[in-house]
Amino acid sequence: MAYSEKVMDHFQNPRNVGEIENASGVGTVGNAKCGDIMRMYLDIDDNGVIQDCKFKTFGCGAAIATSSMATELVKGKTIREALQVTNKAVMEALDGLPPVKVHCSLLAEEAIHAALWDYAEKHGIRIEGLAKPKNDISEGEEEEEY
Ligand code: FES
Repeated sequence: MAYSEKVMDHFQNPRNVGEIENASGVGTVGNAKCGDIMRMYLDIDDNGVIQDCKFKTFGCGAAIATSSMATELVKGKTIREALQVTNKAVMEALDGLPPVKVHCSLLAEEAIHAALWDYAEKHGIRIEGLAKPKNDISEGEEEEEY
């Protein structure tokens, strides 16, 4: 299994690790299958622009690298733009992930959605195009198996 240089860089020097006190939105997502958990904090200003983003990941190297890159990608973006930061976009920014590690990148995408969902709930607003995130991203996979 080979990781790109960018993946190795973000794994070894993850950006934006930590917490934001009084964050506008916080989202926690896990994957029950591998036991990995990610928490994402967003600081969103009155114009709906993401001023800061931090994360904590208890997870594999690919999960750490994708969370790190995801925080870099959503910083400075509007909520609408942040919804475009899909796991695919994160993987492309990292020059790809080995196929068995693609699911790890879903944690980052879902955690951003969960944090935006939390923000929307706190403000009593609806974010167009945002579906209620899952707490456990392996849920959907399991349903397909049965
Ligand atoms: Fe669980 Fe990578 S193995 S997120």
